[in-house]
Amino acid sequence: MKRFTSVHDVPNIDDLVRSAREFKSAPRRSESLGSGLTMGLLFLNPSLRTRMSTHIAARNLGIDVMVLNVGNDTWSIETRDGILMDGAAGEHMKEAAGVLGRYCDLLGIRTFPGLVDRDYDYAETVLESFITSCNKPVVSLESATRHPLQSLADLVTIDEHKQTPRPKVVLTWAAHPKALPQAVPNSFVEWMRRAPVDLVITHPEGYELAEEFVGDVPVEYNQDVALDGADFVYAKNWSSYRDYGKIVNTDPTWQITRNKMARTAQAKFMHCLPVRRNVIVADDVLDSASSIVLDEAENRIYAAQAVLAAMVQDLRSSS
Ligand code: CP
Repeated sequence: MKRFTSVHDVPNIDDLVRSAREFKSAPRRSESLGSGLTMGLLFLNPSLRTRMSTHIAARNLGIDVMVLNVGNDTWSIETRDGILMDGAAGEHMKEAAGVLGRYCDLLGIRTFPGLVDRDYDYAETVLESFITSCNKPVVSLESATRHPLQSLADLVTIDEHKQTPRPKVVLTWAAHPKALPQAVPNSFVEWMRRAPVDLVITHPEGYELAEEFVGDVPVEYNQDVALDGADFVYAKNWSSYRDYGKIVNTDPTWQITRNKMARTAQAKFMHCLPVRRNVIVADDVLDSASSIVLDEAENRIYAAQAVLAAMVQDLRSSS
């Protein structure tokens, strides 16, 4: 793989899941694969899990890692094209990415959407500009519309915990005080459509995700009906795609509670984290044995390791 920005960059997701699970059982099994290589991780937005797990994954493969937090560690970076740079930003992404490409063999970037201009966000303008300008293999650490490392870790976690060959997986919206991106749900749906699961999406009207992601996945507006018989419940808030970036419903009854979980087939509870307790999910669900959120977070290491290993193998074979 020369880039990892969505499921569409992956030749075979079964191989990637298998590789992640093998790395989980023996994290140092390829500890010299990336020897002599340097990876730069550029964060335009905050992170706990992605920053740590990607760093550990690279280190397990013998790759040196450098992390930059834009605005704190670097000059403020302008991402728009054709702009008069007489404001706060002292450097353009084109030069910043170009320089990083000269210093590093692999790069990762986190760039959230502005949630103002849907066309700009959904064209992945910042990510694509970065990829073009750095001219090196790039891993998305979450972009405007997708979070593929999270989705791969979610798939690995479902593969570990499933009790039936084709589990029912429910992606449910829950209310949140802030307008959040659609990246995690978009990406989750995109990956689950390629996985051996029966996916159902549930949300209030007005929260329909983009058609390119949903495809023929059933959407059930009644959350109780959607949860019936579920094997996995994946909760997440997102802002409206139609009324772009807006909060159009604040109904707290979409929170995942013990009563809601009682409708399921003893489902496992999933969330990408960070999660707001007693807003998205009740304490007694998150603290229960049914919660596998820490497994998901741990699997971020091995998902990243599988992706980096595939990219390094490609890099080695083409040089
Ligand atoms: N799930 C996830 O991406 O977490 P961070 O935002 O902390 O990296």
